[in-house]
Amino acid sequence: MQRLQSWLFVPGHRQSMIDKAHGLGADALILDLEDGVPPAAKETARAQIAKALPKAATAPLFVRTHPAHDAELTNDLDAIVAPGLAGLVLPKVNAAEDIIHLSAALAESEGQAKLPVGQIRILALVETARGLIQAPAIAAASPRMAGLLFGAEDFALDTHADAGDDFLYARSALVIAAASSRIQAIDRAHLNLHDTHGLSASTRQSRRLGFTGRLLIHPKQINAVHDAFRPSPEEVDYAQRVVAAFNEDTGSIVVDGHMVDLPVVERARQTLALYNRRNTETP
Ligand code: COA
Ligand code: MG
Repeated sequence: MQRLQSWLFVPGHRQSMIDKAHGLGADALILDLEDGVPPAAKETARAQIAKALPKAATAPLFVRTHPAHDAELTNDLDAIVAPGLAGLVLPKVNAAEDIIHLSAALAESEGQAKLPVGQIRILALVETARGLIQAPAIAAASPRMAGLLFGAEDFALDTHADAGDDFLYARSALVIAAASSRIQAIDRAHLNLHDTHGLSASTRQSRRLGFTGRLLIHPKQINAVHDAFRPSPEEVDYAQRVVAAFNEDTGSIVVDGHMVDLPVVERARQTLALYNRRNTETP
């Protein structure tokens, strides 16, 4: 699966937001059935999501279901496993067993829906202390796994931390767990809708830590997140010079007073690929 940077939450019971969501330019949409939807609106949300799935999609559609072992999860799967569903976001994942449980239920639903078994991907929301400790095993739990996401508000609740904290340890641990299974690491949502500067600065930090994407809650956050993931002109310039100067026959060289060897060159190539992703002209 291609790395998707912007993951926009869309409440499943808000039909007008679902209608709008496709044209907004987010890389992926997460239609919500869990905590963003009030209990009385769950059935409406399931029906609206089911209707949205087969429509021509400009962005892949994911659905946040109820957690593993929640009685509502079966109702979620019955309603939404259908062509057009790219994957599920499973919340409050505490152990690899939660993923294995979902994967088995999904295989059954895929069979009933005449979809190839294994097609629907899973992303795990890590938002508890237990989930963080188990994150490497969660990431490796199934070939369906496409990413780990960090849920800061539930994590703060579970750990008695301030929800405004940086959670540097937890976020770094999540990045490493995701990288160890070669899947995406997607950072927390930025809840202050008016704080574009804070959104940009914190997304640049996400990128520096190794996150490959970010959760969003409002359309106006999309461009700021894409911009923050784009390498700066200085980074692109340096990366180009590193790649141009390196010669496989010479081993280590020096660029701008810094030693450059193979991993540095590979990282520079990654920087250029990241830049080219949203830029048609090559740098
Ligand atoms: N997806 C799609 N469209 C959205 C949207 C979203 N997440 N958030 C806002 N919009 C739309 C609105 O419907 C509105 O459309 P309109 O101009 O056609 O009426 C437009 O964008 C501007 O919205 P705005 O008035 O600024 O926001 P709001 O007050 O309607 O909604 C929130 C604010 C926070 C309630 C809303 O953004 C939201 O529900 N976000 C997702 C929250 C969520 O899923 N939380 C759980 C996971 S953390
Ligand atoms: Mg949560």
